[in-house]
Amino acid sequence: MEHNLKYFGGIKVDKLIGGSNFKGERLTSLIIAQSRLCRLKLFAFTATTTLLLICVCAVQLSTLSDVTRVLMFRSNSQTITPPQITGTERNSENNGYLMVSSNGGLNQMRAGICDMVAIASFMNVTLIVPELDNTSFWNDRSRFEDIFDVDYFIASLRDEVRILKALPDKQKRRVEIATLYSMAPVSWANMKYYYELILPRIKKNEVLHFTQADTRLANNGIPKEVQKLRCKANYRALRFTPPIEELGKKIVRILREKGPFLVLHLRYEMDMLAFSGCTEGCNAKEIEELTNMRFACPWWKQKIIDSVKKRRVGACPLTPEETALALRALDIDPGTQVYIAAGDIYGGERRMVPLRLAFPHTVKKETLLESSDLEPFRNHSNRMAALDYMVSLESDIFVPTYKGNMARIVEGHRRYLGFRTTIRLHRKLLVELIRQYKNGSLSWNEFSQAVKTRHANRMGSPAPRLEIPGKPKEEEYFYSNPQECLPQIV
Ligand SMILES: *[C@@H]1O[C@H](CO)[C@@H](O)[C@H](O)[C@H]1NC(C)=O
Ligand SMILES: *[C@@H]1O[C@H](CO)[C@@H](O)[C@H](O)[C@H]1NC(C)=O
Ligand SMILES: *[C@@H]1O[C@H](CO)[C@@H](O)[C@H](O)[C@H]1NC(C)=O
Ligand SMILES: *[C@@H]1O[C@H](CO)[C@@H](O)[C@H](O)[C@H]1NC(C)=O
Repeated sequence: MEHNLKYFGGIKVDKLIGGSNFKGERLTSLIIAQSRLCRLKLFAFTATTTLLLICVCAVQLSTLSDVTRVLMFRSNSQTITPPQITGTERNSENNGYLMVSSNGGLNQMRAGICDMVAIASFMNVTLIVPELDNTSFWNDRSRFEDIFDVDYFIASLRDEVRILKALPDKQKRRVEIATLYSMAPVSWANMKYYYELILPRIKKNEVLHFTQADTRLANNGIPKEVQKLRCKANYRALRFTPPIEELGKKIVRILREKGPFLVLHLRYEMDMLAFSGCTEGCNAKEIEELTNMRFACPWWKQKIIDSVKKRRVGACPLTPEETALALRALDIDPGTQVYIAAGDIYGGERRMVPLRLAFPHTVKKETLLESSDLEPFRNHSNRMAALDYMVSLESDIFVPTYKGNMARIVEGHRRYLGFRTTIRLHRKLLVELIRQYKNGSLSWNEFSQAVKTRHANRMGSPAPRLEIPGKPKEEEYFYSNPQECLPQIV
């Protein structure tokens, strides 16, 4: 054990712990203050959710007034007034039916579904509950209603868009006789595209099917009302099914009992490494396995990848040891509970050693729960991901190690819940600083100071969403920073 403790990813531990000039206490108090804040925010959130529930019940009788709608839209409603039951449904006309196949993993599908809600609403078409992807890498057969509370989804959005669980019989027969008009809308489109190109097609064919839903709507240049509906769909209408909600809350409760916790979305899973070609720290056998996997997947187009080059430009997920160094450099207290929100870490426990040495209270759902609790979830990666999503939202600090969909969507959701801290690690910078620290040209203090300085404005605070006209993929994602739905930046 003595021996094991001595080295930490090739770095002497005493250098890391002894010479690290900890501000652990300060950080702990920061975390505790934040967690109190979180509980208050959680209370506020519960209160508005209750309001939403009342509203949903009310719409069984009639539809809501504009006033109520505004209240439901507000992220932090302080005053809770009973809903006025007056007014008429917004979408009295129906221009046709939109069927949607969502593609990708849970969070990619989540964002796509929210975009489709907004698009259907503003085209005045009826949305059929989207189909979930059952062919992706994640290989999960779960349907929409297995992951999301479908009745709640339909009722919450009743005032904005008509949603049906299936096509009405008449349209279904029509589609069966004739062919179904299927297409993939262009990516990052604006509303003009939907009004001028898509809507006429729906009117002509009555039913239209989108084969893809992710990134079909631009981040910017979209009317504010449309943006607000994207948010309402994401933050209000999409709720997980009761079994997922209950188990997610149970994990949060277990963690909370022991104090503050940080969620680490450690995207160091086999698919990520195979896909990205990032093999830093892997042995020859592992590199071979990852490369073979990439070559075996027809849809992963880029086959030959220079891992070293890619890592240097910040395009690789951080390794567990790099992550541990970054968190310690940021003065995260080693006593902090670190919940790993991820599937299986590639290389298993062996690869986790550096992180466990730096943060001994590292846990995951499999270690916190009874095996029987997870039984109904285990074979469904999207349901497992949903649990991690819930825990990530409620954590004191959320740290993703890569810029994937979960990282970006959780970051935005945390902003919406009151700018909860999300540390966006600067991968390119960290790779370089770690290299300098390891070769001795930076002391621990210098390293730590540099990491802290360069992350001061990467904590999920209010900031305008980064716009890069003509380069939507490089822009800040709408769901990372849904600025139109957040309190005004002053
Ligand atoms: C949708 O319906 C609303 C209210 O009836 C109407 O104001 C709007 O112009 C309609 N939009 C489209 C694209 O049909
Ligand atoms: C995948 O989903 C489609 C559409 O819902 C369905 O027709 C198909 O049977 C599903 N495949 C499997 C293997 O579950
Ligand atoms: C999960 O999948 C494994 C392997 O395919 C199978 O043996 C097991 O019975 C499945 N468990 C459940 C609960 O479906
Ligand atoms: C560490 O790396 C820097 C930058 O490449 C180099 O200038 C320096 O000589 C190296 N230091 C040692 C001790 O190897």
